[in-house]
Amino acid sequence: MFTWKEEYSCNIKSIDDQHKELLKIGSSLYEMVRLKKHEDNYDELVQILNELKDYTLYHFQAEEKLMEEYGYEELFLHKFEHKSFLKKLEGLELDELDEKQFDMTMDLIVFVANWIEQHILKSDLKYKEFFNSKGIS
Ligand SMILES: [Fe+2]
Repeated sequence: MFTWKEEYSCNIKSIDDQHKELLKIGSSLYEMVRLKKHEDNYDELVQILNELKDYTLYHFQAEEKLMEEYGYEELFLHKFEHKSFLKKLEGLELDELDEKQFDMTMDLIVFVANWIEQHILKSDLKYKEFFNSKGIS
């Protein structure tokens, strides 16, 4: 589910590396549930969530900076997609998460996996050609 595939590559090393790191964080969330589904994982869950939030923010800023620098025409739309992802993460109620750990974590895993796949495969690959034509790699 959170495995890197060559088709994800946008031929820009720094962005590919960041996408790989995001997949890694997603995978640690999944592994936590898979291996310890009957345990109280609240602290670890919050830690992974914070890591996901921080890294996503860092990655989005890096991507947007590159887009701004080179005048990418779909920046506005792309920023909007980034914002809605962060909004979902920030909107998670921690008390609720504590009570319904398993269900909410599973929902989150599906959300993150779908989002990464959709966003990387569609929106991010749209800029691949644009950046590649500018000689960025
Ligand atoms: Fe993006």
